[in-house]
Amino acid sequence: YFLGIDVGTTGCKAILIDENGELIAKGVEEYPLYTPRPNWAEQDPSDWWQGTQQAIKKTLDSVSIDRKAIVGIGLTGQMHGSVFLDNKGEVIRPAILWCDQRTAKECEEITQIVGREKIMRINGNPVLAGFTAPKIYWLKNNEPGHYKRIDKILLPKDYIRFCLTGEFATDVSDASGTSLFDVPRRQWSDEIIADLKLDRNWFPECYESPEITGYLKKEITQLFGMNDQVIVVAGGGDNAAGAIGTGIVKSGLVSASIGTSGVVFAFSDEVKIDMKGRVHTFCHAVPGKWHVMGVMLAAGGSFRWLRDVLGTEEKNLAALLEKDAYEILTEEAAQVEPGGEGLVFLPYLTGERTPHADPYARGVFFGLTLKHRKNEMVRAVMEGVTFGMRDSFEIIREMGIPIEEFMAIGGGAKSPLWRKIQADIYQVPLYQVQIDEGPAFGAALLAAVGKGVFSNVEQACQKAVKVTDKVYPDSQKGIRYNEIYQIYKDLYPALKPFYK
Ligand code: XUL
Repeated sequence: YFLGIDVGTTGCKAILIDENGELIAKGVEEYPLYTPRPNWAEQDPSDWWQGTQQAIKKTLDSVSIDRKAIVGIGLTGQMHGSVFLDNKGEVIRPAILWCDQRTAKECEEITQIVGREKIMRINGNPVLAGFTAPKIYWLKNNEPGHYKRIDKILLPKDYIRFCLTGEFATDVSDASGTSLFDVPRRQWSDEIIADLKLDRNWFPECYESPEITGYLKKEITQLFGMNDQVIVVAGGGDNAAGAIGTGIVKSGLVSASIGTSGVVFAFSDEVKIDMKGRVHTFCHAVPGKWHVMGVMLAAGGSFRWLRDVLGTEEKNLAALLEKDAYEILTEEAAQVEPGGEGLVFLPYLTGERTPHADPYARGVFFGLTLKHRKNEMVRAVMEGVTFGMRDSFEIIREMGIPIEEFMAIGGGAKSPLWRKIQADIYQVPLYQVQIDEGPAFGAALLAAVGKGVFSNVEQACQKAVKVTDKVYPDSQKGIRYNEIYQIYKDLYPALKPFYK
């Protein structure tokens, strides 16, 4: 058996699979997120560690298996977060997370010191507020006492690795999101680290995702009743590991995930960088491969907002019918033709990353008339979010990365109507997978590869990732959607002067 552990933002999820990649059990434990000031987001690494132990315990307690038959663990988690450790391995201050926005000034400072062209060439991405390097500079500028004590800097899942094995290590996909990593060469950038006058020894050894980084400590194996030779593999950032779990391991494949945020993730054989910085280029968890990723901030989040402001009737009805309010809203949207009778929604409720990188962008309903009812508004939100995702498809195509088929995952993949809307708007055939357990499943598969159960990541996916449903795009609807997409695309530049 293999365990996959996902140190997420809302909680830790553990899943147990067997050597064929079948799901055996899972367990989740939530933990708090602290917002000491607006735009700040922090978590206590000891909460992650407690959460991880509980999630493993819940998983193992829910089945009766021989715990001595667990032979490997794969780690994944939220990217970019910074865990600062002192020379005793103690956490210096709470971790600053990927969604924290305090570092705008430090992003500029770092870009100035290193130079934008060099950063783009070596790291492949502009320095963004959520990334790790600006957090280190923030500490230097604002908490010099803490900065002086730094002995190691770890990413969230790598702190859990330290707790489990005592080793300092990371993997290429997660390290890509630090601004300090040479993405084409798949190693720390000594050059950027030196330019920024950071200590090279702060950064842990970096591995390819299926490589073994260490073994569980004796006290941990005893705690869970496991044998004392359990390997821990490098694992990957949540998006890269998630892509292993959905089989995005060869050219032509893309995943479209509509969760709170929206992520379009494309596999790439070569390292390709968008010099405009609209999409991220990171190392993939497949050794020697890369991925390009567009991130939308309010995807499923836009639909949740609509449910909360307009969905009272649906909520009541849902409780009565023991259904989900989203299901009822979606049934209403299904009665509307594509294009919502001329209603277009811009999903920029919390600003936008891809393609605009504009924290000031805001949501819009365009084209409202007396004729419009709630049905059309629901339809327009589902379509508007999907147009936002299509923006990433367009950029990825523009970069010369082929797109032949896409996997729909996340909450947006649960609705048959939204799956259809996605296939029709992207004009790409859609696939769905049997196990949609997110990054934890990919991490568990990486452990199985590390142990040698599969000869490589591609083979693991071929065996364990099973396709359940296919949807082909309707070209007539595609023509109609193209007309509306054109309006959608023209609205942002027209409105931009008013976004402040
Ligand atoms: C990726 C990113 C998020 C976090 C969420 O760049 O910021 O997907 O990894 O967990």
